Amino acid sequence: MGLFDTSDARAYDFETLAIHAGQPADSATGAVMTPIFATSTYKQDGVGGLRGGYEYSRTGNPTRRALEDCLAALEQGARGVAFSSGMAAEDAVLRVVCSPGDHVVIPDDAYGGTFRLFRQVLQPWGLEHTSASVHDTAAIAAAVRPGRTKVIWVETPSNPLLGVADIAAIAQIAKDSGALLVVDNTFATPYLQQPIALGADIVVHSTTKYAGGHSDVVGGGVVTASAQLGDAIATFQNSTGGTAGPFDAYLVLRGLKTLAVRMDRHCDNAERIVDFLTGHEAVGAVFYPGLASHPGHGLAASQMKRFGGMVAFRLRGGHQAAVDVCNKTRIFTLAESLGGVESLIELPATMTHASVADSEFAVPDDLVRLSVGIESVDDLVDDLRHALTA
Ligand SMILES: Cc1ncc(COP(=O)(O)O)c(C=O)c1O
Repeated sequence: MGLFDTSDARAYDFETLAIHAGQPADSATGAVMTPIFATSTYKQDGVGGLRGGYEYSRTGNPTRRALEDCLAALEQGARGVAFSSGMAAEDAVLRVVCSPGDHVVIPDDAYGGTFRLFRQVLQPWGLEHTSASVHDTAAIAAAVRPGRTKVIWVETPSNPLLGVADIAAIAQIAKDSGALLVVDNTFATPYLQQPIALGADIVVHSTTKYAGGHSDVVGGGVVTASAQLGDAIATFQNSTGGTAGPFDAYLVLRGLKTLAVRMDRHCDNAERIVDFLTGHEAVGAVFYPGLASHPGHGLAASQMKRFGGMVAFRLRGGHQAAVDVCNKTRIFTLAESLGGVESLIELPATMTHASVADSEFAVPDDLVRLSVGIESVDDLVDDLRHALTA
């Protein structure tokens, strides 16, 4: 590894690590940018004579490795593993840490695909789960079954209601009961929140979102506090094959370089939009951790640098009014996903969270979710003003 390997991550600020961590100039050519190593295999200098430790690209690839080291440095963890999607990352973590017969505590607000993984894949495999309110640390503690609970899983801020979980307090609960705390840090990104520094054992990401930042790649990442656990997850990945390809790894690596500047702009724009929405007569509740009225505001202020680019709100006019707003915006594009430079709007009940419509995890059908992009905020506010006009 080079100058900016994960071992000296603490010597540099976030913005420097985002551009350099895990990415020394290429030793063969001097290329400043990490090459896309589009190769499935590596020439050996005699049997067993590996040049750079690489033998086959499912097992290891230098472009993917650069991304893994960069993610680990940004999350202040020991080991990063880059996956083909956020869901592949989540599945790997749970299958490595848990066995059939174990139990997991999950929040009542999270990405719908995470619930689907628990209900449709891991429950039949033998993993039990109990849900608890993401805000309610006591309820999370009460849901733990000593000896059987192997993971407490939180997403904070959560998707789509922007709930805030107390990472440090839940990390302590996990530690006391012999469980591991896994934090889905997709919404916050390591620029705004570093769960491992607050006591979490594992961070997962959909790098499809802010990490990639341009809605042009699907990817996932895991960062572990312990190198041993990271190695176990990498071994699982090598055995099951959900690796990030070199082109995708390159896109995420490139996205990470501008994460800090993008996130500041996402936050600036989201704050202005929240100001606008809270004063609008057609809008009911507005969900944003930066609002003083948000139940998790104090906590978010203490564990996050800023409050992020995701905003949700309910329409006083109900479901049809929410549908109308989604259909009328011109800059906010009606689409799933989030975290790109462009602004997106969606209706979680029928789009991203449709898979939980009939469960205790269902979200209100008059809820609109915005992924606030980095366009001119004046244009974005005008777009919403127009869409909210009956
Ligand atoms: C918070 C969160 N976690 C995980 C995922 C899953 O990631 P992917 O779509 O990259 O598989 C998503 C996707 O929307 C998400 O929003």
